[in-house]
Amino acid sequence: MAADVKAGETAEELQRIVNHYPGEKRYILAIMQDVQGEFKYLPKEGLEMIAAHVNVPLSRVYSMATFYKAFSLVPKGRINFKVCDGTACHIKGSNVLIDQIYQHLGIKPGETTADGEFSLETVNCIGACALAPALVANERVHPKVTSAGIIEIIKSYGGLADATDN
Ligand code: FES
Repeated sequence: MAADVKAGETAEELQRIVNHYPGEKRYILAIMQDVQGEFKYLPKEGLEMIAAHVNVPLSRVYSMATFYKAFSLVPKGRINFKVCDGTACHIKGSNVLIDQIYQHLGIKPGETTADGEFSLETVNCIGACALAPALVANERVHPKVTSAGIIEIIKSYGGLADATDN
């Protein structure tokens, strides 16, 4: 698990983002979006700053952060796999892909590998049902992924270094 926000520059950057907005509740989501955009997740320290800034309990900010799937409370990997788990992809075996990723990388949805290389999440329909089951690696869509294909995809992003290449 990556370290919490380090003191210094990161905290300053968080504070700068938070202070950019008036201290009103209606800006909570906007601030969280900016923090997520900058850090690719919502550091605990950032949530604390937001709660203090708009004067609401930290629990309220947490519940908003966990309600919206776009937000992450843990750092995402260099490569973030999104397995579509909408109806079409589910029927075509998205759970097999999730299982395969767990078998090979040891991560479940919402988790990141210890080296920070890969993270996994599930998403609702990405609008490519004809390509089910679909997986998105960062911004790239991989169509009709098979359980063998997922291994090749992981390798193509630098994973499974110990596996045979040929
Ligand atoms: S259900 Fe996966 S793309 Fe539509």
